[in-house]
Amino acid sequence: MEIVRTVTQLKSHAEQARKQGLTIGLVPTMGALHAGHLSLIERARRENDVVFVSVFVNPSQFNNPEDLRTYPRTEEADCALLTKAGVNYAFIPTPDEIYPEPDTRVFDLGSVADVMEGAMRPGHFNGVAQIVSKLFAWVNPTRAYFGEKDFQQIAVIRRMAQLEHFDDLTIVACPIVREKDGLALSSRNVRLSPENRQKAPEIHRILEKSRQMRANGNTVADTIKYVTDAINAIDCMEVEYYQIVNPITMQPINSWEEVPEATGCITVYCGDVRLIDNITYHSKQ
Ligand code: PAF
Repeated sequence: MEIVRTVTQLKSHAEQARKQGLTIGLVPTMGALHAGHLSLIERARRENDVVFVSVFVNPSQFNNPEDLRTYPRTEEADCALLTKAGVNYAFIPTPDEIYPEPDTRVFDLGSVADVMEGAMRPGHFNGVAQIVSKLFAWVNPTRAYFGEKDFQQIAVIRRMAQLEHFDDLTIVACPIVREKDGLALSSRNVRLSPENRQKAPEIHRILEKSRQMRANGNTVADTIKYVTDAINAIDCMEVEYYQIVNPITMQPINSWEEVPEATGCITVYCGDVRLIDNITYHSKQ
């Protein structure tokens, strides 16, 4: 694996691959890699000739300076994992390399970006669009891979790709990878205290249980109340939001009949660690 530090090198490696007629898979990450990222990389390797992984904690998508400061940075361990995973190029730039001058672009991300994470973290999705659009332009990948844990982010990136005319690029959404006890893998999990780590899988367990609510004929509002109350009853946890949405538009639904499948998206503070997860409600379960 080659570590690439500059945009010039990155563009040159990608251009060479394209000239040779090779397909390129891109996996954008913020590092602190775990099995969730590795599942994206495995898929990118299966489906493409060459795989680029970016490792960059993107300042422009953090609306909270403390969150940016405490975000885990584990470059050495990341490089070992990427080498073992058979990645061809790891792009690990500095913030100055990415933003030699401030990126003032404001994307018209529309209603998919207004709700949930967009409402709670002003500017977050614009920052995601800034970095991902740069990576897409520099690498010009055949396919780019994103995890469904950040469910709304995928819709936002699709919207950005449409706005910026990345028409030949396929965005591949990959399923959430979970610990054996159900906790969705996240780089933030390492910041959970041992006690809170034990309780964190309750989020997934309660979401799973809420599927039964839908199956038993309960309303969307009742299901939201059940999930919110059950999680808030756990002493270290506080639900920031729980919304059941149309998985394409990200708009909240009022009745199950509005969509064949709905997605429940949750953000929970577990102590001071912000965890996100989601679940699909099928029409027949
Ligand atoms: O999901 C993430 O890790 C980040 O938001 C991404 C897509 C790498 C952009 O910084």
